[in-house]
Amino acid sequence: MITLTVNGNAHQVDVDPETPLLYVLRDELALNGAKFGCGLGQCGACAVMVDGAAVNSCVVPVGTLKGRRVVTVEGLGTNGKSGVLQQAFIDEQAAQCGYCIAGMIMRAHALLERNPAPSDADIRTHMEPNLCRCGTHLRIFRAIRRASETLGRSPAQPHPAGR
Ligand code: FES
Ligand code: FES
Repeated sequence: MITLTVNGNAHQVDVDPETPLLYVLRDELALNGAKFGCGLGQCGACAVMVDGAAVNSCVVPVGTLKGRRVVTVEGLGTNGKSGVLQQAFIDEQAAQCGYCIAGMIMRAHALLERNPAPSDADIRTHMEPNLCRCGTHLRIFRAIRRASETLGRSPAQPHPAGR
């Protein structure tokens, strides 16, 4: 039995310690925001936060998470009461198919937690590991910039692609 804390709630799961966190989130805890993309740590669709850092949950064995804090996209807001980043992604219509978006939001959340006023280059560099097959990168960029401004963490800046 493995105990892990997700979105502030303690859970006990009866799985092999080598089971990827992504499988536990989706199959044991019904937290389906994080997605299975590559399963190899190369696309970011499965990104969640562990102790404040973005990680690809498809390559994190659940047995390594005792005493650590996991946050998923479900932990940032609820249906009808979106978190700031979630609302910014909605306002910028950043999703096309949407498959990458939970991972994008979680990686962006890690950035804003660590760097409250990211530059454009900071955003681009930080988000680079996450892939979007639909090519909505500019909208995703604008959503992160919008969230940063909403939080009052950085001065309003012109959007690079215009709006
Ligand atoms: S599914 Fe985890 S990085 Fe692609
Ligand atoms: S919106 Fe489709 S993969 Fe990003």
